[in-house]
Amino acid sequence: MIPVNEPLLNGNEKKYLMECIDTGWISSEGPFVRSFEEMVASYVGLQHGIAVCNGTVALEVAMSAIDLKPGEEVIMPAFTIISCALAVIRRGGVPVLVDVEADTWCMDINQVKDKITKKTKAIMPVHMYGHPVDMDPIIYLAEKYGLYIIEDAAEVHGAEYKGRKCGGIGHINCFSFYANKIITTGEGGMVVTNDNRLSERARLHRNLCFKEGRRFYHEELGGNYRITNLQAAVGTAQMERIDEFVGIKRRNGASYNKHLTDIKWIQKPVEKKWAKNVYWMYGIVISETTGFTAESFARQLSEKEIATRPYFLGMHEQPALCKMGFFSNESYPVTERISKQGLYLPSGLTLSERDIQKVAAAIKEIMPK
Ligand SMILES: Cc1ncc(COP(=O)(O)O)c(C=O)c1O
Repeated sequence: MIPVNEPLLNGNEKKYLMECIDTGWISSEGPFVRSFEEMVASYVGLQHGIAVCNGTVALEVAMSAIDLKPGEEVIMPAFTIISCALAVIRRGGVPVLVDVEADTWCMDINQVKDKITKKTKAIMPVHMYGHPVDMDPIIYLAEKYGLYIIEDAAEVHGAEYKGRKCGGIGHINCFSFYANKIITTGEGGMVVTNDNRLSERARLHRNLCFKEGRRFYHEELGGNYRITNLQAAVGTAQMERIDEFVGIKRRNGASYNKHLTDIKWIQKPVEKKWAKNVYWMYGIVISETTGFTAESFARQLSEKEIATRPYFLGMHEQPALCKMGFFSNESYPVTERISKQGLYLPSGLTLSERDIQKVAAAIKEIMPK
């Protein structure tokens, strides 16, 4: 089976992990946590990094940092992972959806303005599968209406918008380092910001809101969202190679583009002229005229020993959220279509050119002639 992803851990990961074990620094107090935070923050051009135990809680910590209050709204794409909506709902906030663009699969910035109300507190652009959101119109609206921008950069380590690193543009931004991410710590996440106050609040909320100077006294409710020195050791080793990893992803993306070029039944990822796409996962959307859905197509590929993963299901189609009364009678046609027809192909850092050729040949064989 060609797997969808496999992490590449053959740099200094083992050496740094041994250092943790030899010195006994295995908790969140160890020195790799700071080095990892500094590496990620400075990579995206920001001052503060606050490492946490996964990308989902990074979003929750960001919401706590901006002090999202019950009833306040956050505008986000319908097409994303549930973590985005969850972070808002956990604080009693309201996720407000817009559809995504048919070509980039990122938040449709033309729909954002109409969703701004007196209760809007933030806009959450989610960079999708390696491609950045068009940020300038979001920056314009955020400045005009006094809103926070919270980038979800979980899928775009190294991607750029007009020469700026994704995850370095919003007021407070989030990364995931899950095992399928370009930089991984197994499980892990980070909040990054340039704002001293937001950084302080994020640190507080990561660590149970322990008050400085009076340890077991809490003025707010936080969580234990800390990352371990072991995870940060792996992250430090991974960050040493980020340029190499981004290069591999882009090379794989270009290779898929080349080998899939003459198949008219699939929509391939784009790279807008203002964007650097890192092809975190190489996604495709299959034309309905083939008679395939993503699910039936994935089954055919699986028979040929090629693993895939389906696209996200829209937030407005999530039973758990609908049961809570969110999004009733809302429809987001692009999200609905790509949820049914989209899937992503093997995209890991260990993928070979031969693997890509095998995947492309299998797709050609399955498709109608
Ligand atoms: C866009 C996006 N945001 C947030 C997350 C959540 O990250 P984690 O799995 O580390 O909780 C993910 C997924 O992994 C993601 O793809």
